[in-house]
Amino acid sequence: MNFKQSLLAAAAATLVGASITAMAAETPSAPTQAERGRYLVRVSGCNDCHTPGYVQNNGQVDEKAWLTGDALGWQGPWGTTYATNLRVLMNDMSEQQWLTHVRTMQPRPPMPWFNTRAMNDDDLKAIYAFVKKLGPAGAPAPAYLPPGKSAAGPVVRFVP
Ligand code: HEC
Repeated sequence: MNFKQSLLAAAAATLVGASITAMAAETPSAPTQAERGRYLVRVSGCNDCHTPGYVQNNGQVDEKAWLTGDALGWQGPWGTTYATNLRVLMNDMSEQQWLTHVRTMQPRPPMPWFNTRAMNDDDLKAIYAFVKKLGPAGAPAPAYLPPGKSAAGPVVRFVP
């Protein structure tokens, strides 16, 4: 190989290398349904209320405890509510039951049910796949208390 030939060979090798890199960049592996669900749960705020200590710890809570419900009460004119243990609730539901539940439920504040209702079926199915993959864990959250009943534990109060 003379000098010119070896330059050409080097250039060709670089081009092949570049196109392999480009191909790899163009075809990232698509996230699984459960992975997408994990992402949605994370960015749509479900953990903020449904995972104990999530906000207080800047989101640094082990996934094992995600969505296990919380004993922090939300108190206002509606009484005192506790974010549901979704790991237990959803484990007992079929995918179709979950879709129907989200489309029809109207829980008390501060659950933003109008946001979950606006999610499309694919997003809700992805969340379902993720929560089912995590499996059931934890105990049910404390029961709802009607207005005027005092709560045993800490509460966030919405004072009019
Ligand atoms: C601001 C706090 C907050 C956020 C954010 C939040 N929730 Fe809730 N959620 C609650 C509370 C509190 C309840 C219980 C309301 C009640 O007792 O009426 C609840 C109830 C629910 C229920 C009804 C459970 C049942 O028994 O029928 C579902 C389902 C639910 N949340 C799913 C979600 C999902 C999914 C997300 C994220 C997209 C989310 N929530 C975000 C606070 C929150």
